[in-house]
Amino acid sequence: MNRKQFISRIGAIGAAVIIAPKANIHAIETPMGREEKNTRISVFQGEKIKVGIIGCGSVSGMYLPHMSKSPYAEVVSLCDIRPERAQQRAEEYNIKNWYPHIDEMLAGVRFDLLVNLTDMQEHGHLNRKAINAGKFVWSEKPMANTYAEGRELFELAQKKGIRIWGAPAVVNSPQFAFMAKQINEGKFGKVAAAHAHYGHLGPDWSAFFFEEGGGSIPDLGVYNISTLTGLFGPAKSVVAMMNIIRPTVNTGNKGPIQVIAEDNAMILMEHQNNILSHIQCGFNYFDPYGHDGTGQEKPTISIVGRGGNMHMIGYDWKPFGVDMATTDHEETQRFVTGDGGFRWEEGASVICEYLSTGKEPLIDAEHALHVLEIIEAARESQKEGIRVQLKSSFRWPVL
Ligand SMILES: NC(=O)c1ccc[n+]([C@@H]2O[C@H](COP(=O)([O-])OP(=O)(O)OC[C@H]3O[C@@H](n4cnc5c(N)ncnc54)[C@H](O)[C@@H]3O)[C@@H](O)[C@H]2O)c1
Repeated sequence: MNRKQFISRIGAIGAAVIIAPKANIHAIETPMGREEKNTRISVFQGEKIKVGIIGCGSVSGMYLPHMSKSPYAEVVSLCDIRPERAQQRAEEYNIKNWYPHIDEMLAGVRFDLLVNLTDMQEHGHLNRKAINAGKFVWSEKPMANTYAEGRELFELAQKKGIRIWGAPAVVNSPQFAFMAKQINEGKFGKVAAAHAHYGHLGPDWSAFFFEEGGGSIPDLGVYNISTLTGLFGPAKSVVAMMNIIRPTVNTGNKGPIQVIAEDNAMILMEHQNNILSHIQCGFNYFDPYGHDGTGQEKPTISIVGRGGNMHMIGYDWKPFGVDMATTDHEETQRFVTGDGGFRWEEGASVICEYLSTGKEPLIDAEHALHVLEIIEAARESQKEGIRVQLKSSFRWPVL
């Protein structure tokens, strides 16, 4: 069967055979089981996945080199509302097709997966257009602008027999795998508490980070929330405080603007197994390591229980070690010292591998949705001065 026939066969048999969800999944918001996911077959039967990238700004400079090296991906199309950016990336990476608008991109050369690297506020409506056009979607964070919108998109994709996933890819690092294994094996007895932090001086090149729908939580805290929920499981409730430290900022694309979204945040989560975890993030952190984290050699995630403690060294999107001390070995030892090939920008390439080979990724859309619900709950907690109960969940343990 050639590619065209196979795609049309997907159209004909749709979700029923290729990626059949359980009928009751939407109603009770339970995550899909691992067994169910692993029974899926490759959608594209070993072929390279044709990719369209929308948003040709800063982060595309990380995605494009990674995807260009992937044996599972072929970037065929680019788009940016600042078309000169799409044109420039097209020239740099020898990509034939570039467009100034998503509608033209969707009507143009055929592709299978939309990779959305636009402003955070644009993700929801662009992802919806792509799903409606039958495209699989990998979205930079957040997957949508509200939890409700994200769940709607997730269900819309399921109904169409396609899928959507959202960044970040932190569960793929070897340090995450090591830490999850220690916790799951009960190395520390019962884990009691954890702390995570991520901050720098702010992504001043674009205004959207500081406007309504932006903020340090969806830009930075999102990594820590994904890591801690990935390690400890879904959160039951959230309490948070946040504010604005720098009232105006000079941005690369709009000049000086008023900061609307929080740039300083503290979030407390109670996980389903009673572990309490804390995240702090912000755009006002002295940051001698620069935006790429080079030289950050201190722990950014710390976990403690009666039987030991464990610290992730480096940021969770670029870790390079885990320090651990236990009652069996009280002197701290360092483990998993390499990066194991993990790159934070690998998410879309990993999804191409899944679509091509059927190898189910650890990255899970329902995990991204849960993280989105936590972000929203943190904001509600700040606004109303209350503890907010959560309803979403995801497949856990991740490994
Ligand atoms: N820059 C990073 O280091 C980094 C790292 C991880 C994740 N991210 C995430 O990646 C996304 C993009 O961030 P960035 O730093 O590359 O921003 P950026 O401002 O550098 O690039 C965004 C691009 O999207 C384009 N765009 C906006 N709306 C569009 C639309 N409707 N249609 C087509 N193009 C549109 C803009 O013109 C711009 O070129 C955000 O979600 C951000 O949180 C960025």
